Amino acid sequence: MSSDATMGLPDVMRSRPWEKSAAAHVSDDTSLAWVKDERIFLMLALAMQWASECNAQGPNPRVGCLLLTKDGLVAGGGVHRGAGHHHAEVEALKDAVRNGRSVAGGTAIVTLEPCAHTGRTGPCTQALIDAGIDRVAFAISDPSPQGGGGAEALREAGIEVAADIDPKAGRELNRAWFHSVSSGRPYVTLKTATTLDGRIAAADGTSQWITSPEARAHAHEIRANVDAILVGTGTALADDPALTARLQDGRLAEHQPLRVVMGLRELPAEARLRGEGGELVIVRSRDPGEVLEVLAQREVRHVLIEGGASVATAFVRAGLVDEVHAYVEPMVLGAGRSVVEDVGVATLAKAPRWGTHEVKALGSTAFVAARLKEG
Ligand SMILES: NC(=O)c1ccc[n+]([C@@H]2O[C@H](COP(=O)([O-])OP(=O)(O)OC[C@H]3O[C@@H](n4cnc5c(N)ncnc54)[C@H](OP(=O)(O)O)[C@@H]3O)[C@@H](O)[C@H]2O)c1
Ligand SMILES: [Zn+2]
Repeated sequence: MSSDATMGLPDVMRSRPWEKSAAAHVSDDTSLAWVKDERIFLMLALAMQWASECNAQGPNPRVGCLLLTKDGLVAGGGVHRGAGHHHAEVEALKDAVRNGRSVAGGTAIVTLEPCAHTGRTGPCTQALIDAGIDRVAFAISDPSPQGGGGAEALREAGIEVAADIDPKAGRELNRAWFHSVSSGRPYVTLKTATTLDGRIAAADGTSQWITSPEARAHAHEIRANVDAILVGTGTALADDPALTARLQDGRLAEHQPLRVVMGLRELPAEARLRGEGGELVIVRSRDPGEVLEVLAQREVRHVLIEGGASVATAFVRAGLVDEVHAYVEPMVLGAGRSVVEDVGVATLAKAPRWGTHEVKALGSTAFVAARLKEG
């Protein structure tokens, strides 16, 4: 993992979380004074960065782990690469063995509470105990039904545990996962590509391409990071989209999300959606809740809705849009389809609203990411 030493400073470091969260959590417990060491948070930030850069897909959370020797040297690091692969802690322990560094009496820094259950792999708590680790710090507790209990198991084995040392960053790393674990349905991001006046197609029906090449490249990156992309039969039939995630050079990205079409009509045999790309799932329903249930059963954590207007309207109306990705091109059509239609709002105060999270220019296109406020 040596090449990672050159990476830029992660956001979590700029906010100097050790001055706030560690102090808040461990100030009364002098035995946990070690957690206030800036190095613990630097290591946590590195573990977070690795986990976020590791393009692991599937139903599991992204997790990173870093191990220090008794003397505080980095012994090894690891990330979880998705279902069927070892957990981050086990990867880090293997890395330490490869590096010839003992972790006996050392410290484990993990982005999520180590698991105590035996799933596809053995419990990480046991692996850490067996390796002789003395201290474990993790960013956030595991809220999933089969997770949790890790901190307790470690404490019972005599390990000093600093829990929830940066829950905000820990949650952010696995935003969709935390959401779907607590709500039982996938996290929903609605993508819109519109003109300044909120149109997605001109009066004659022409709609490609409203936004800049940079905006489209950005949208492809997002596709490569979600579990599923969803459109209605209207868009599938009118545009014949492929809904693949492509790299800048046009090649298919390694991870292809599930391609989901909702609606009652049949797609032609020659539809591009049936061609190369992720698995095609046709859900014969117009009910957003029902569609999300089908996706939840398939362990989809994050679905990206790419239109069209009818489907977008249905999700907004049902209050099922957690995040909006709005690509706005400074051009005006004055007529044509609007991005959403009647969502049942008669007065301003009743309008669904999201909090702006990110704003940036992508070539000529303005990009706004906005999220439902947590609560
Ligand atoms: N600029 C953009 O960002 C963008 C993105 C996407 C699409 N578009 C444009 O939007 C146009 C298509 O719009 P659209 O509204 O027809 O597309 P759509 O929302 O993709 O599909 C609508 C169809 O989906 C089915 N459906 C599924 N759930 C529904 C629900 N809850 N309510 C209503 N219908 C539901 C219905 O067909 P069934 O009878 O089969 O059930 C309906 O006719 C195309 O011209 C496309 O180019 C633009
Ligand atoms: Zn584990």
